[in-house]
Amino acid sequence: MTKGLFITFEGADGCGKTTQIELLDKYLREKGQQTLLTREPGAKGLGVKLREILLNYDGEVSPQCESFLFLADRAQHVDCIIKPALKEGKVVLCDRHTDSTVAYQGYGRGLDLSRINMLNDIATSGLKPDLTIVFDIDVETSMQRVGKEKDRMESSGVEFFNKVREGYLEIAEKEPNRVKVINSSDTIENIHKKVVELIEKL
Ligand code: TYD
Repeated sequence: MTKGLFITFEGADGCGKTTQIELLDKYLREKGQQTLLTREPGAKGLGVKLREILLNYDGEVSPQCESFLFLADRAQHVDCIIKPALKEGKVVLCDRHTDSTVAYQGYGRGLDLSRINMLNDIATSGLKPDLTIVFDIDVETSMQRVGKEKDRMESSGVEFFNKVREGYLEIAEKEPNRVKVINSSDTIENIHKKVVELIEKL
């Protein structure tokens, strides 16, 4: 398979990663790179329907069920969108991927981490990002950025988001080669420079 590059952007809600992924996409395109900007959950097609359930369903959702819905979206995304783009040699920029399930459903909801890693592996058929950037921010600031209109996941509370943050930092400690942490309380321009430095190293 001709290989592009697979880069994932991670962090708690309100960490500013979506702004940064768009800036990086623009930067790479201006350099003449072919990119695919995509996201989880809900890149397109069936994923959009799963996203609607995951973010807006207002009845009871068990943590296991929540995990499987994110994983179902991921399997579809990897097979139908990410792998074909990598095969074409594109730089795939993905807003959230496997580490979100580890941080949110594992650390946040308390599901078994080794099982989540195994299920992630099944959903992606073993595909791993070449680089993952975690945008780290304190929970108070991230909740302020999210604002009052919160979706189902964002309504999970401060304690939950402290665990999610801790989860991301532990993932980065465990896999220092793949996962890099950027302090996201800096200015948009400075954070973008740090992102570009990481990409140029690849
Ligand atoms: P989204 O609006 O895309 O959030 P953001 O802009 O912060 O990325 O909503 C996705 C939500 O789903 C977000 O709260 C994180 C959560 N999520 C999980 O809990 N597990 C997962 O595996 C993924 C991909 C997302």
